[in-house]
Formats: sequence, structure tokens, C-alpha cells
Amino acid sequence: METKMWTVDKNVDNLKTYPQIIEAARKLRSNEVVAFPTETVYGLGGNAKSDDAVLKIFEAKGRPGDNPLIVHISDREQVHSFIKAVPEKAKSLMDAFWPGPLTIILEQKSGALSEKATAGLQTVAVRMPDHPVALALIEASGLPLAAPSANLSGKPSPTTAAHVADDLTGRIAGIVDGGATGVGVESTVIDCTAEVPVILRPGGVTREQLEEVIGEVSVDPALKDADQAPKAPGMKYRHYAPNAPFYLVNGTSAQIQQLVQEKRNEGLKVGVMTTLENKDFYDANVVIACGERSKLETVAGALYDTLRAFNREDLDIIYGEVFPEHGVGQAVMNRLSKASGLPIIDK
Ligand code: TXA
Ligand code: MG
Repeated sequence: METKMWTVDKNVDNLKTYPQIIEAARKLRSNEVVAFPTETVYGLGGNAKSDDAVLKIFEAKGRPGDNPLIVHISDREQVHSFIKAVPEKAKSLMDAFWPGPLTIILEQKSGALSEKATAGLQTVAVRMPDHPVALALIEASGLPLAAPSANLSGKPSPTTAAHVADDLTGRIAGIVDGGATGVGVESTVIDCTAEVPVILRPGGVTREQLEEVIGEVSVDPALKDADQAPKAPGMKYRHYAPNAPFYLVNGTSAQIQQLVQEKRNEGLKVGVMTTLENKDFYDANVVIACGERSKLETVAGALYDTLRAFNREDLDIIYGEVFPEHGVGQAVMNRLSKASGLPIIDK
């Protein structure tokens, strides 16, 4: 399949009238699948009402069919066509964070969406992205768009159109290139079907920000306990994995450098994932700085590009620094732990 690349400037007015957006929207209306930027990561969109389109999404990504998709909208009124009722707390969250990196799980009206999009569940995850290209495309298509991250299953989520092209060229109808995304980690997923809403996936909106608006929220215990089944089916898969064993180390730079040296003495090629502040400290085969530790949002923004960069290197082992688990640090550490899949080395 030919994969078209449509380049658009996200800053122009009236994007939905641009020929690139109109052509991409036409593909979506004929149940083809198209990748597009959001403020978090690129999504792979398809008509959420069509089994045919949704199957193409799963096929292109190699995604397991039991992992439901997020439905993206451009206008709040759209929720009423497929959501039973919007509880008060969900309303407050929409007021405060939409458009934005918050996905809300609600009970769906049966028959309104493809059952394949929601993996047969009674609930549906919905979000309004804060990105002019995403909003223009959804509006021009006139459809709710089911869209997972536009990567091959298991790979890091894409934060540029080039990442999408690396993974999905030849597998999808097109890519709308609107530049690099901003937040860099996926949306926060919150289940609002319970009285006390539950965070199923930490992301661009922090727990602290949510609690400021609706009071107490809980966090799915499975996020911390590997023996429990996560409530978001997608959270059970290992994700974002670099090609070499990737160890997170809770220790000083000197302690990490000592580990690096031991492995180099054994003749291994060693990588270190650090931040700008510490980059010059390390002596390893490959040292990559992922943003600035003092500004955790820059670490989130650069995270997946950094993981992809390690995959272009031929390394035997990678060590990574850990980050404080407050604010967006929760999402960063969640993704890093998934990328590692190994116990943290505690120094
Ligand atoms: O930032 C984002 O959320 C990006 C952009 C493209 O919007 N999308 C994204 O989608 O990350 P995806 O498919 O990679 O992750 C969706 C997560 C999965 O863990 C999935 O299992 C969970 O949301 N999910 C979706 N619907 C659900 C439901 N009804 N109940 C529980 N979890 C659900
Ligand atoms: Mg994903």
C-alpha cells in the first residue's frame, strides 16, 4: 500500500479547509486509516463506527484485539452520540482539561460504535486532543476517530511523523505531518464509571491536577504491583522496549558510572540514558541526554525519541537514571519501567 505524507503547518488559520486535511479526511470517510499528530503522541486514526476501519488499525499495528482504543472527538457535544450519561465529575474534568491530554472512561451507548474499537467492553475511552491538526482532521472527517498511538505494537509511541513512517510505511493510507508533538507521553487515562475515579494510566495530566478539580482520585494498584491485572488492558503489555537489556538505577552518577565501567571491562558495549545536566559526567559507548532533569516536562517530551535513538545503536546493555515520581515524573517512570521490564537496581 502506498502511504501518503501530507505536510501541514499547524499554525495556519482554518486548517480544516486545507487540501491535505480534506484528502486525509476523505480517506478516513472511506474507512482507510491515517496517522495524525496530537499534543501527546501521533495517533493512528480510523472511523470508530466501522468494524472495517478498526480492524485495519489493529492489523497495521499488530495490536492484540483485546486492547480497546481511545475514541477522539473535536467537539464535546459528540460524546452524547455514544456515551450513556456524563457524570458530574467527568463533566468537571472535561471543563478543566479538554481539549487536552486526559482520556475519560465512561459507559457507552450500545450499538453506537464498532464493538471492535472497544474490545467488546461496556465502556469507552474518550478524549478531545489539544492539537489544531487533530481537531481539524476530526472535524473535517465528521467522525469520532478511534486512535491508538501510531507505532507498531511494543515499540515506543511516535512523537514525530518520521517515527510513524519508520514503523508503518506501506501499512497505512497516509500520515499527516504536523511537526513534533509536545507533551511526549500519552494522555492520562481515568475511569469515571466509579464513584471515586481511578487513574488507569499516568500521563500528561497529573494526579495532583486531577485532585484539584474533583477531589480524591485513586490509582489502579496494578500500576505498582506486577501480580495484579491492570484495568486498562493495554497496561499489561511490555512496551517501548529497547533492543538491549535496559536497567534503571536508583543511585548517584558515580555509582552508575561504576556499573558502566564493570561492564566495559568485560568487553561489553554500554549505553547510558541521562539528562543534559549529567551528560558530560559519563564515560560509556553511547550517552544520550533525555531533556533536563530540572524540567521534567522536557524529559517526557524527549523520552520516546531517546528510546528510539538507543535502538539505532548496537549496544549490549543500557543503564538509565530514575526520576522523582511527582507531577509528570509519574508518567515518565511508568513508561521507563515498562521499557525496562527489569527490577530497578537500588544502590
Ligand atoms: O495520548 C494518547 O492517549 C494517545 C493519542 C494518540 O491520543 N493514544 C494512546 O492510545 O495512547 P493507546 O491505544 O496506545 O492506549 C490506550 C490505552 C490502552 O492502555 C487501553 O487498554 C486503554 O487506554 N483503554 C482504552 N479503552 C479502555 C476501556 N474502555 N477501559 C479500560 N482501558 C481502556
Ligand atoms: Mg500505545
